[in-house]
Parts: sequence; structure tokens; C-alpha cells
Amino acid sequence: MIETEASSLARVDGGEKIKCTHLKDLTQADIDIITKHLKPYVDTLADRVLAHLKSLEADEGGFPVTRLEHNVQCASRALRDGKDEEYVVAALIHDIGDRLCTYNHPEMAAAILQPFVRPELHWMVLNHEVFQGFYFFHLFGKDKEMRQKFKDHPCYDLTVEFCAKYDAPAFDPNYKSVPFEEFIPMVRRVFAKPRDYIYGDRFAGM
Ligand SMILES: [Fe+2]
Ligand SMILES: [Fe+2]
Repeated sequence: MIETEASSLARVDGGEKIKCTHLKDLTQADIDIITKHLKPYVDTLADRVLAHLKSLEADEGGFPVTRLEHNVQCASRALRDGKDEEYVVAALIHDIGDRLCTYNHPEMAAAILQPFVRPELHWMVLNHEVFQGFYFFHLFGKDKEMRQKFKDHPCYDLTVEFCAKYDAPAFDPNYKSVPFEEFIPMVRRVFAKPRDYIYGDRFAGM
């Protein structure tokens, strides 16, 4: 069962606290205390991502499936087409920003994924909206071929394929998606350890 974001945060609250109130006064002992708190926090990142993803269940936005089902269906199509785990997890959360980044939703998913997936997948998620627009921008009086501005980018074909095969068709209420729960271990594995982190291995994946 997935916890709510609030309960996930509450679980790592409490315990020993540092005394200093301005970071200029931090000591090595303080860093050790903070590090102790950070371990369970980084360990539960996947749970917080999953909990927020689950919250998209509340909104259909006029589509025949919920925003959660759209993400799950997109990931299901990618999984069944043989895509690897990083790709499937990227597909699973590609629209996780709909609620909090309503005007720039791809940036939220891309930011969450960036430390954990290969750069091509980060680029694909970050720019998917322009490519998805091929199917409907003209209905808003926009250029449906806006994606052409990226035509020479090495991730162009990758992102065209993502939208054509997995994202654009993922609004079908009759499609039998992979159960949400089956994606949970994949999300935990992908979010287990960042590829790169400003603090190195000190906090990450300890
Ligand atoms: Fe999107
Ligand atoms: Fe989407």
C-alpha cells in the first residue's frame, strides 16, 4: 500500500536535532546528525514519488481515463513493447507534474527523473509536450510541427516514438493496463541510487 505524501514525510520526522540555527555554525557533529536523518529520507523517495503519482487518480480532466491511468497506461505500453526499466519508469511518471506544474508539467517529471535515468530519457520527458503537440497543436491554432525545431537533436526520434507508441494512445478506457502495484518495485529500483549527486555517495543510496 502506498502512503500519502504527508505520512511518508512524518515517518522521517523526530529524533535528534542539531542546535545551530544558521548554516554558518554547522559542525561536523551536526552533519553526522543530519546524515542520519537523511538516510531514511532518501530511502523513501520512491514512496513519495509513488504517493504523488497516486494523487493523479483524482482527476480525469475531461479525458476518458484518469491522469493516473494515463501514466500507467503509457508505462504499460512501453513495458509490453520491451522497453527497459528506466524507460518504463520515465513513462510511468512523465505527467506527474500535471497537478503542481500545471503550466510546465514536463519539467517536474524531468527534474524528478534527472539523477536516476540516462540523459536521453531525461530529454525525452522534458520535451515530450512539444512532440505530443503534433497530434493537437493545430486545434489551438498552433504549428503541429513545432517539434521540428528539434529535428537535428539526437533524441528527436526517441521522443517521436515515445509519443506515437506510448503517450498519445494512452487514453483508452478499454486498454488493460499492468496493475499499478507491479510498477512499484521498478520505481524503487530506479530511484535506489542517483547516477550523480553533488554530495557524492555521502547521502545517496547509503
Ligand atoms: Fe505530458
Ligand atoms: Fe502524457
